[in-house]
Amino acid sequence: MSAGDKRSRAGVTDQAAFFAALAKERRSVRGFLPTPVPQSLLEEVFTVAQLAPSNCNAQPWIVHVVSGEAAERLRSGLYDAARTGGAPAGDFAMTGSYPDEYRARQIGSAKALFGAQGIARDDVEGRKRSFLRNFRFFDAPHAAFVFLDERFGIREAADCGMFAQTLMLALAANGLASCAQTALSFNPSLVRDLLGIPSGHKLLFGLAFGYEDPAHPANAARTDRAALSEAVTFHR
Ligand SMILES: Cc1cc2nc3c(=O)[nH]c(=O)nc-3n(C[C@H](O)[C@H](O)[C@H](O)COP(=O)(O)O)c2cc1C
Repeated sequence: MSAGDKRSRAGVTDQAAFFAALAKERRSVRGFLPTPVPQSLLEEVFTVAQLAPSNCNAQPWIVHVVSGEAAERLRSGLYDAARTGGAPAGDFAMTGSYPDEYRARQIGSAKALFGAQGIARDDVEGRKRSFLRNFRFFDAPHAAFVFLDERFGIREAADCGMFAQTLMLALAANGLASCAQTALSFNPSLVRDLLGIPSGHKLLFGLAFGYEDPAHPANAARTDRAALSEAVTFHR
């Protein structure tokens, strides 16, 4: 039964089942149809995302959504810069390689993504081509850029994560797909310049979204999760 079917039935149990199905349904999609999302639906979804909780209800996320010509300007600017430019210079320190068990998870997600696309481990060019698709928003017609005021820190950055997950679930509930993208924060000055954003707004991450292209091989990738006991300790 799909998440949508569950939603049509009332009751707390069904609501829990609906939410669990929705959380499972959301996954990172890296191939989109060109079909734009109607502005009314964009506004509905972002209104729901505004319900995200935050420290002292400060709601520190500053969100810029690009569509149409604005999306094309950003897409070609970021892609050209990534293709020809040097190392990323984000506003926030990058997590490059992960230590310990986190490394195994990082490798697992890369394997899933490259495996789905038939890109071999030693295919450096193929991996690069796949990575560069980040900067074209994986062909999504829309992207959201999430900024944080420079006067804020890690707590408010966590609030922005709350916002992003609420947004991604709201998108999924409306039949839309998404992929959060740190890669879209690699060239923050260019994004600020192209969108006329003040230098004190620091770019945390971007998020591509739209209608999934079910035929794109990257979308066959699936990730798993660690056992509950690895992440959560219950104390009594
Ligand atoms: C903040 C954040 C940044 C991410 N950045 C990227 C990115 O730059 N490129 C990408 O392809 N995926 C990116 N992802 C997607 C993760 O790889 C993905 O969430 C993870 O592998 C789990 O898979 P799932 O989202 O399909 O459940 C990002 C996810 C988050 C939450």
